[in-house]
Amino acid sequence: MSEPIFVAFATQKGGVGKSTLTTLVASYLYYNEGIEILAVDCDHPQHTLDTYRKHDFTVVAENPYLKKLTHSFFQKFKRKLYRILLTPPEDAVQVAKDYIAEGHEPAVVFFDITGTINNRHIVGLLAQMDYIFVPITTETGEMTSSLTFANHVQNKMLTTGNTRLKAVNLVWNKIPSREKTKLCETIDRYAATLGLHSLDTVMVNSTKFAKDGQQVGRTGMFRSTMLPPDKRLMKGTNLEALVSEIRNIIKV
Ligand SMILES: Nc1ncnc2c1ncn2[C@@H]1O[C@H](COP(=O)(O)OP(=O)(O)OP(=O)(O)O)[C@@H](O)[C@H]1O
Ligand SMILES: [Mg+2]
Repeated sequence: MSEPIFVAFATQKGGVGKSTLTTLVASYLYYNEGIEILAVDCDHPQHTLDTYRKHDFTVVAENPYLKKLTHSFFQKFKRKLYRILLTPPEDAVQVAKDYIAEGHEPAVVFFDITGTINNRHIVGLLAQMDYIFVPITTETGEMTSSLTFANHVQNKMLTTGNTRLKAVNLVWNKIPSREKTKLCETIDRYAATLGLHSLDTVMVNSTKFAKDGQQVGRTGMFRSTMLPPDKRLMKGTNLEALVSEIRNIIKV
């Protein structure tokens, strides 16, 4: 079996979309493309992915439409939910390795990390990733913060050679269109002068990203740890293109 690829969506600012993109990409790879994945929730003590999973169980149990959908999905899928392991950042890699040593064979391990680099445990964890994707938005504070973070990882960590890191890529998130805006393109040109690259795919700003199931009604789930993103909700979000571009980079 080949070594699992360690991936993190990371940046120091909160609310840019790390946990959301982690869940969407992980769920799409697992439930739509059948790729074995493991999620390690090191966002200690918030544990966002675990909170999402608990929420998913609640809404599926309480909404008859989602319950039926989940039942028929798993009858065909014939596999369990992917695991979400909880750990403080300093133990995260060991926790993943122990899980793999038990005989599990994830092709990709996603680490959901707290937004900070002023912590040696988090820096140590980032250095053990194969690929880091840095969400960036066009909001000035978030944009500056993501560029500073990506520049630090690219030019202080990646180039020193003391890491597993193979590539750092910016990912535009919460963009008002399906294409890069003029501002994205201007910032891309500046980022390129720092040696930074951004993905071609941009993630659209849409209320769909918060659609994680309701207790009533027949609306599907977009961001779920238990089901693939609802096909109708996926339209116009660029999620398929994002997954495909990421698969090309991480070679999975
Ligand atoms: N493309 C998008 N369009 C609209 N809303 C989005 C998009 N991406 C993320 N969001 C929303 O932004 C909020 C913050 O996202 P998320 O929790 O993923 O950020 P985070 O970077 O993980 O934050 P933290 O650092 O606190 O862990 C959530 O309410 C999420 O639904
Ligand atoms: Mg988060």
